[in-house]
Amino acid sequence: HQQEAFVHALRRVELHVHIEGAMTPELLFKIAKRNGFEMEHDLFDWTTHPDGSETAMYKEYTDLNQFLNVYTKATEVLQTRQDFSDLAHEYMCNAHSHGVMHAEIFVDVQTYVDRGLQADDVVHGLEQGFRKGQQEFGISYLMLGCALRHLSADQCVAGMEILRPYHEKGLIHGMGLCSMEKGQPPSKFLPAFQRAREIGFERFTAHAGEDGPAAYVSEALDVLGVTRIDHGINGIKDEEVFERLSRQGTMVTLCPLSNIALNVIDHLGELPIRKMLDNDLKFSINSDDPALFNSWITDNFIAIHKEHALSKADWIKISHDSIHGSWAAQERKEEMQ
Ligand code: HPA
Ligand code: ZN
Repeated sequence: HQQEAFVHALRRVELHVHIEGAMTPELLFKIAKRNGFEMEHDLFDWTTHPDGSETAMYKEYTDLNQFLNVYTKATEVLQTRQDFSDLAHEYMCNAHSHGVMHAEIFVDVQTYVDRGLQADDVVHGLEQGFRKGQQEFGISYLMLGCALRHLSADQCVAGMEILRPYHEKGLIHGMGLCSMEKGQPPSKFLPAFQRAREIGFERFTAHAGEDGPAAYVSEALDVLGVTRIDHGINGIKDEEVFERLSRQGTMVTLCPLSNIALNVIDHLGELPIRKMLDNDLKFSINSDDPALFNSWITDNFIAIHKEHALSKADWIKISHDSIHGSWAAQERKEEMQ
């Protein structure tokens, strides 16, 4: 189908992807082996091929919190600077094969520091892998730090101090709010966002309205002062919040197949894509955790295309909005346009 070929061939920007969620089973096994870890058999479904070889896929998930347990478990194999470099580089290779020209990638630095790793190994390792990918494929990238909502508000403030030197060196560009959402209102993490502002961060986003209520989207905007909303599903489904997101021009980073995988929605038709386009509610389409969901950015584009029968003009608008809603430098935006 001609239109689908057009969607396949689009150059993309990915504004919502977690580096931990981009670790393929193959890379996890390779890293586990060299670090002397047991293979995490229970995380995977195995397929045996006619030639006797086996391939692994991450098992299905029940919801966000159960997914986050798997995600955290998978990261335990990561130990050395080389591991982080390989992880970042593997993402860049996959991103290249999916036509990505610019990526903004969440990194959970605090998770590793709390486990006793050196923040330098994490951040410089990732930087090395991303930079290599940039040199090979011309993909620009920005790393985004996270306040992790499964930690306490105070721990998240301490997390900002971990990021400080890397923000000062220009390695960590923006800040997000990630991890479990239910029962964790954005306002609880205001101290971390305030500290991030003191440190000099200027770009803020928050996961909101993924499995939490529409009110969390409003709170992230009003209290935390974010200019981007990750997922935002329950906000978009609310008439008032929809109207506000549209009026303010807030970028919403949708991750449709993530929402299906985590049972946040039952059907892609629940995403009011047509209404968003018609009301100029700006959004991008992203993978979130492509390896863990076994669905990459192209799969998300194609799934939305099939469900909502979009036109070429719709896709041109989505691409344009994604570029201009990114945090890339102005010259880079113009290059990508
Ligand atoms: N939501 C919140 N935190 C996350 C997600 C998500 O979908 N993926 C990785 N961390
Ligand atoms: Zn996410």
